[in-house]
Amino acid sequence: MTEILDGKALSKTIKARIAEKVKQIVAEGGKKPHLAAILVGEDPASQTYVNSKEKDCKEVGFDSTVLRLPASISEKELLDKIKELDENPNVDGLIIQLPLPAHIDENKVIMAVSPEKDVDGFHPVNVGKMILGLPSFVSATPLGIMTMLKEYGIETKGKNCVVLGRSNIVGRPIANLLSQKSNPGDCTVTICHSHTKNIREITLKADIIVVAIGISEFLKGDMVKEGAVIIDVGITRVADASKKSGFRLLGDVEYSTVAPKASYITPVPGGVGPMTRVALLMNTLKSREQRIS
Ligand code: GUN
Repeated sequence: MTEILDGKALSKTIKARIAEKVKQIVAEGGKKPHLAAILVGEDPASQTYVNSKEKDCKEVGFDSTVLRLPASISEKELLDKIKELDENPNVDGLIIQLPLPAHIDENKVIMAVSPEKDVDGFHPVNVGKMILGLPSFVSATPLGIMTMLKEYGIETKGKNCVVLGRSNIVGRPIANLLSQKSNPGDCTVTICHSHTKNIREITLKADIIVVAIGISEFLKGDMVKEGAVIIDVGITRVADASKKSGFRLLGDVEYSTVAPKASYITPVPGGVGPMTRVALLMNTLKSREQRIS
């Protein structure tokens, strides 16, 4: 039997817990958690993401600020705006939506946010601490996936885990987290990427496969062993005139052939996506709590 890992339902449960916690903080005379986001330019996907983050904040009772800036902004002006929000004692979490226009150095931007407010977990201090297994902000998608594995009670200890994709924000952090001495964790992890030979031979040995390769329907049924746990991080929009939005979403997993073989699988949409969104709220709440203590 295949069990669907329902990220939508689980994120709702976690949001209710967060909202309860916010009420408690306020009842004790504390300030609501406050997430600030900066959006540069007009990229439609980035606009959607930032709007969703604003909506999520409202839903759990957080304060939120969104600073929308033109794509023509200079790097210096952007860094000044970041500094201003970063130094604002009322701001607990600060994120700059990526990608940025080509004339702006992404690394400089990431490092302009202080690690204590870096709820995206992109700052080298947070990445370094995460790799050392020290308390840190873990970026939203890996944190969302780890939370999902934990909440569903999926056994990871001693399992063979294959991660497809080596990005800084998903592939490498999730591979690292799953290899750590922790629960979830204690996996034997293999990372595959565009230069990996014989991917199918590797995925066929996997108990857990995390697919974050950015190629729609890449993982097919004949690449997966019976009973594997499948985590699909992909979201690609494909034109679909029958949909009101004009598009539908495809994951990096060919669901129709993989799902029948899987023990657990995340759907797209409704799997990793909502978990990523709620993970950012978890980090922002954590930042607020750290500021109180
Ligand atoms: N662009 C794609 N994913 C992310 C994310 O998690 N945070 C930010 N700031 N930008 C992104």
